[in-house]
Amino acid sequence: MNALAKAIYLVGQLAKKIRSRVRNQYYRHLLRHFGEGSQICEGVFITTPWNVSMGKGVQINGRVHVLAREDAPVDIGDGVVLSYEAMLLTAGLAYTGKIKKRAHRALPIVIENDVWIGARAIILPGVRLGRNAVVAAGSVVTKDVAPNTLVAGIPATFKKMIQTSSIVEQQTKADR
Ligand SMILES: CC(C)(COP(=O)(O)OP(=O)(O)OC[C@H]1O[C@@H](n2cnc3c(N)ncnc32)[C@H](O)[C@@H]1OP(=O)(O)O)[C@@H](O)C(=O)NCCC(=O)NCCS
Repeated sequence: MNALAKAIYLVGQLAKKIRSRVRNQYYRHLLRHFGEGSQICEGVFITTPWNVSMGKGVQINGRVHVLAREDAPVDIGDGVVLSYEAMLLTAGLAYTGKIKKRAHRALPIVIENDVWIGARAIILPGVRLGRNAVVAAGSVVTKDVAPNTLVAGIPATFKKMIQTSSIVEQQTKADR
């Protein structure tokens, strides 16, 4: 990399850092709760942010959408990661009436601590994701997900249990 390219790169990085600080301060004031060390990347779309709470060390990557209607909040625990373009949708049209009226049905979404939601996964209204669960990229989650499980597909189904470090530690002790 030549000197000019390096200088341009460094200025770009600095501008990115400043934008990131401003954005996170903005959300710190708007969200119902914004935990220490959480980060919201560029291009994230959050409707009614005052209806969203976020624990500590949460990472929300680019172009994630969070739809949290007034009557259906989104609660995100500590250490959660939402990968690129994932969507949390607490509402949809009440299609049994005339959709022209644009009436909505809404249910809250709860994401417990240390969940990872893969890129482009969609979490539908009323879903609770248990602690340490993983949602594979591109999945559509229609039902609650048990803690320490990997789900994948459309609709997302159980694939396997996840070995947490405490489970691994217990097994290692048992193996000795
Ligand atoms: C889930 C994931 C992490 C793989 O984890 P893993 O522990 O290696 O899981 P495996 O590859 O053993 O897959 C387990 C099962 O889930 C299925 N599966 C994995 N990812 C899937 C996906 N995205 N969609 C559908 N099925 C999937 C596998 O086919 C396998 O199914 P089977 O047991 O019926 O054969 C990975 O597939 C994924 O989705 N990563 C997300 C990447 C991403 O979003 N990155 C953004 C940057 S942070």
